[in-house]
Amino acid sequence: MARIVCFANQKGGVGKTTTCVNLCAAVKEKRRKILLVDADPQGNATTGMGADKHADVTLYDVLIRGTDPKEAIVTTKYGDVLPSNLELSGAAVELVDAPEREKVLKKALEPLRESYDYIFIDCPPSLGLLTLNALAAADTVLIPMQCEFYAMEGLADLMTSMRLTKNSINPNLQIEGIVLTMYDRRLSFAGQVANEIRQYFGKALYKTVIPRNVRIAEAPSHGKPVSAYSRLSRGAEAYDLLAIEFFRHNHTIDI
Ligand SMILES: Nc1ncnc2c1ncn2[C@@H]1O[C@H](COP(=O)(O)OP(=O)(O)OP(=O)(O)O)[C@@H](O)[C@H]1O
Ligand SMILES: [Mg+2]
Repeated sequence: MARIVCFANQKGGVGKTTTCVNLCAAVKEKRRKILLVDADPQGNATTGMGADKHADVTLYDVLIRGTDPKEAIVTTKYGDVLPSNLELSGAAVELVDAPEREKVLKKALEPLRESYDYIFIDCPPSLGLLTLNALAAADTVLIPMQCEFYAMEGLADLMTSMRLTKNSINPNLQIEGIVLTMYDRRLSFAGQVANEIRQYFGKALYKTVIPRNVRIAEAPSHGKPVSAYSRLSRGAEAYDLLAIEFFRHNHTIDI
């Protein structure tokens, strides 16, 4: 039975998609069955996995037309993908009147659990209905954070959303862990921010830190995760180590 992990942080550009795609590929390489669900209308995870953003059937059809997700799923070398594109931004509006509007994704993904070891959901940078659907569907939340001055800002809002979701629709929701991304050792405040995050989250903070690495940034334009684009890069190595820690990490914390 798959564990469903959503990658959330309403702060934009902190490495949600990059971590979702590259951890997915690293997990797949370790012979686990994995599905990446792209819940962001930007469709970055879809292209990052080398899947087609202009697919005939996407997550939009699953959420709005009740299409069987199996019809939308595409298989790539790096894991299966349930693709999305800009059309999904319409779903955020159209779902507003749907019955149990926060549970539409949960209901769609539940039957897929038996086919995978893990299902990853890449969230958009907002706390709107798409992210709420992801939080409702997930067992755990993995929070990518960038070690910048404003890292902690907005975290309180994310915690509030997670708490509300837990209290109202998903009582078992837990934090999978926090991953520091785009880490630059040369910046002295990066270490300070990391310490602050460690104090707040304790062991839920992953020991593996993702460095700022140009290969990671280049890989999506080739439709590949970094491991396939530049096998020996520091970025590929970091995500490989993250996958190993992800399998062993058992410090999920209550929200
Ligand atoms: N470790 C890294 N080293 C270098 N560049 C990175 C790294 N991680 C992410 N990036 C780059 O930073 C940008 C933002 O990353 P990403 O798209 O993963 O963030 P996001 O949180 O998903 O953004 P959004 O909130 O828009 O969905 C991208 O251009 C990505 O290529
Ligand atoms: Mg993203």
